[in-house]
Amino acid sequence: MKKVLLFFSSLFFTQYSFAQNTAVLRADAPSNTISKHIYGHFAEHLGRCIYGGFYVGEGNVSIPNTNGIRNDVVAALKTLKVPNLRWPGGCFADTYHWKDGVGPKANRPTIVNTWWGGVTENNSFGTHDFLNMCEMLGAEPYLSGNVGSGTVQELKDWVQYTNFGGKSPMSDWRRQNGRDKPWHVKYWGVGNEAWGCGGNMTAEYYANVYRQFATYMTGVTDGEEIFRIASGASSNDYNWTEVLMKNVPLNMLGGVALHHYSVINWDKKGPSTTFSEEQYFNTMQEAYKMEELVTKHAAIMDKYDPQKKVALVVDEWGGWYEVEPGTNPGFLYQQNTMRDAMIAGLTLNIFNNHADRVRMANLAQAINVLQAVILTDEEKMILTPTYHVMEMYNVHQDAKLLPLTIQTKDYVLGSNKLPAVSGSASKDAAGKTHITLTNIDAKTSQTVSINVQGVKYKTVRGRILASQKLQDYNSFQNPNKIVPVAFKGANLKGNNLEVKLPPFSVVVLEVI
Ligand code: AHR
Repeated sequence: MKKVLLFFSSLFFTQYSFAQNTAVLRADAPSNTISKHIYGHFAEHLGRCIYGGFYVGEGNVSIPNTNGIRNDVVAALKTLKVPNLRWPGGCFADTYHWKDGVGPKANRPTIVNTWWGGVTENNSFGTHDFLNMCEMLGAEPYLSGNVGSGTVQELKDWVQYTNFGGKSPMSDWRRQNGRDKPWHVKYWGVGNEAWGCGGNMTAEYYANVYRQFATYMTGVTDGEEIFRIASGASSNDYNWTEVLMKNVPLNMLGGVALHHYSVINWDKKGPSTTFSEEQYFNTMQEAYKMEELVTKHAAIMDKYDPQKKVALVVDEWGGWYEVEPGTNPGFLYQQNTMRDAMIAGLTLNIFNNHADRVRMANLAQAINVLQAVILTDEEKMILTPTYHVMEMYNVHQDAKLLPLTIQTKDYVLGSNKLPAVSGSASKDAAGKTHITLTNIDAKTSQTVSINVQGVKYKTVRGRILASQKLQDYNSFQNPNKIVPVAFKGANLKGNNLEVKLPPFSVVVLEVI
């Protein structure tokens, strides 16, 4: 701990220059609720996310588990307060036939995972395993239905299987398979990336297909309404959102999805740990695009849905790099550095600040895939810097957004620049205010002078996630290299809250 404090002192006082930023916090103007579902996760049958990540099999005696689900993973995800978990894909979802994943495991047919590595899976992790696991985690399940290669009847049957308590062919089958009470799954994706791996459809064609599938997903529950989410645009495909909003009646839509990955170049993604500052800057540029994307997609939605009934659901986001050398290219296994902590910090600030429309999001993906919060190696498990940011930010879940406007300095690299500091603030049910700040600047510390309006705070305390190098990460040899520590860089004087943010750091403050 002494070493850590010395390190931060040197960051503050010797090693880096400071830039001065100003901000205004309207502490007396709580507005929209920041839905806890913005803090959702994603578990696809991809590489070692499910098999080896969440699930190691009931017979496993070397990795402690409950019904095959890793105990260490469950404990870590409970601390994170995972509000919802999306499954089984991704691209995999549109190849998945749920009926092959229920009933006695020995009798289940295999499936070849055609999108991800061509591996043959034995379907031992299926609907019961996933939904029971969500109960263990205290997370709401978000099931992605197969539209690309499935049928309307198959998806209707899945809803009846999971949500109907009376007598019916599907609920009887569920009981026969060991579950009496329905799970009452609320969140349902109607296909995934219908413009690509979900069927290469046009927006106009998909809008009709959506209407058809969505129609038959109703009437097979115990009366509760399910929340149907349409497969959405890739990044800046605004036409996709426009066509969906225009052609699907609002009462058939709970949410419209959006996918955006912070990838430098799809043909040259760059390494996950040995990246240059230029590659870091380019990743930040891609992450910052989220602000423009949610603003513009939301503006289109406003035209058709001025009352903001339909949610924008960013159900895939995160950094995407080259896989770790020597690993299966189809498994998308990558390490997670301070760069990923920066993506998480600034993206979550963007989502919080757009809480009126962005009411659900899912980081891709939870374990061993892309910007994971957890990495596993057989019986070992580590938490990534992204995990720590998600944990620090979970104070915003279901809290009321407070307006925070920041006049930020730029992070400059060559002739390019980006806003250095991003932030968001909220007031929780207990009356506590939380402020999260991210400084993406690779070299310069940023001092933020926050003018607090409307409330007289008495105390401030906080935590910080920082490290010596941008490329630093937690490894199986050194799992706690990057962890949040107490933050001493905030000072409250009257209505001025001054915060000193070291380069590439994330801070959460509690002000009372
Ligand atoms: O998250 C990995 C993949 O990225 C998902 O399967 C797909 O939806 C997206 O293209």
